[in-house]
This record gives sequence, structure tokens and C-alpha cells, in this order.
Amino acid sequence: MSDLSPVLRATGLRKNYRSGDSTLEVLRGVDLAVATGESVSIRGESGSGKSTLLNLLAGLDRSEAGELIWGVEAAHQLPLGELTARRGRFLGMVFQSYYLIPEIDAAANVLMAARILGGVGAVERARAAALLRRVGLAERGHHLPAQLSGGERQRVAVARALMNRPNMILADEPTGNLDERTGDEVIQLLLEVCAEEQAALVLVTHNPAHAKKTNRQLFLKNGQLDHG
Ligand SMILES: Nc1ncnc2c1ncn2[C@@H]1O[C@H](COP(=O)(O)OP(=O)(O)OP(=O)(O)O)[C@@H](O)[C@H]1O
Ligand SMILES: [Mg+2]
Repeated sequence: MSDLSPVLRATGLRKNYRSGDSTLEVLRGVDLAVATGESVSIRGESGSGKSTLLNLLAGLDRSEAGELIWGVEAAHQLPLGELTARRGRFLGMVFQSYYLIPEIDAAANVLMAARILGGVGAVERARAAALLRRVGLAERGHHLPAQLSGGERQRVAVARALMNRPNMILADEPTGNLDERTGDEVIQLLLEVCAEEQAALVLVTHNPAHAKKTNRQLFLKNGQLDHG
């Protein structure tokens, strides 16, 4: 993997949470480079800062120090508006609780990723349909999220995350609300479609079996990533 250029490079990321007089140092200089198309898992105790780290990598929150490079772009130097626009093209996210829009159907949820970036035409509709087919939901495009099982909802979220052909997917405990078998299937699917789409994957998980399926297993401990 080291011969491939990194799709993401983070160095010295720091995050503190302050409450009253006390400061909680959650991230104390996190370094991470992810190669193009690589899959990486991150484990760590509850409260170790995994979600905090993913939010920094996604540019949803700012690090107090360090650098964040998306492709060749210094994301940590982009103004907020530009960061948001670039995020929509550069990465997709999958969360434990799906975060689908309840009022619109599965196909519209997938298309929403493209709508946020601009127009939706025949090309985008065809891509959304193809992605829904790929995640096994060809017949479910017109179902509302409430009419889908947890596993099916997460499949919609995976399709949505890939809609804009991102370089990278960030997944935060995507199987946290699923039973074991459904969770295994979602992880298998996520790994397969990311490989097909040549999207790198950063997977936060508590499940060692899921972590072992990735190219590289990392641990977040004492505010830093242990590269083993
Ligand atoms: N907005 C916030 N304000 C104050 N403290 C916060 C905030 N968000 C997170 N924290 C604290 O930062 C620490 C790291 O939280 P984070 O959610 O990143 O952990 P995590 O590793 O994702 O945990 P889990 O495995 O339970 O999801 C925790 O101690 C948490 O209480
Ligand atoms: Mg978390």
C-alpha cells in the first residue's frame, strides 16, 4: 500500500473539550495516512475519541492543531463554505443511526447526495438506481425509510455515501444498531462496494471480526492512533 499516494493525510490532529475549568484532551496528536483504495479500521474504548476523530477527518469539526490533507488539498486551510462543498465530492459518510431523511423514499435519499452538490438529471438518477441495485434494493427504491429494515436502511446509506463517487468513505460504527448476521452482511457489502468504486474506507468499529477484514487495523488510545 505504501507505493500508492495517500488519499487522506492527517498529522498532529488535536481536540480538547472544555467544560467550566476542566479541559478534556480527547485527541493529542493523531497521525493517519490512508492510501488510495485502502481500508483501515479504528477500534478503541468507548469515549476514546473515535467519533471525534472521524468528525475531524470529515471536516465537520476543526482540529486545534495539525494538518488535514484531502487528496492534494489542504482541507484545514479551506474556508467553511468551500470545505463543505469539497466534502460532498471528496467523501461519503455512514453512521450508526443511518440518518436517512424520513419523508422521502430510498431512491430520493440516495439522490440527495447529488442534489446537495447541484443538479440532478438522468445521469444521477441512473447512478442512484444502479447503486440501489448493487446494494440489493432494486425493488425498494420507492420505500420510505420507515418501511425498510435496519439492514436495508444502512444499505441505502451506503449507496448514498457512494453517490458522488467519493475518494473515501468514513463509517462510524455502521453496524452498531444491527444484529450480528445483518451487521456482517453490511460490512461485507461495504468492503466490496468500496473496492469496486475505488473508495478508501475508514471504519470505526467495536467488532474485531469486522476490523480484521480491513487492510490495516488501528487503535485509538490515550488520544493517539496506535499503528501496531
Ligand atoms: N461536544 C462535546 N462536548 C464535550 N465533550 C465531548 C463532546 N463530544 C464528545 N465529548 C467527549 O469526548 C470523548 C470522546 O468522545 P467520542 O464520542 O469521540 O468517543 P468514541 O470513541 O466515539 O466513543 P463510542 O465508542 O462510545 O462511540 C468522550 O469522553 C466524550 O464524553
Ligand atoms: Mg463514537
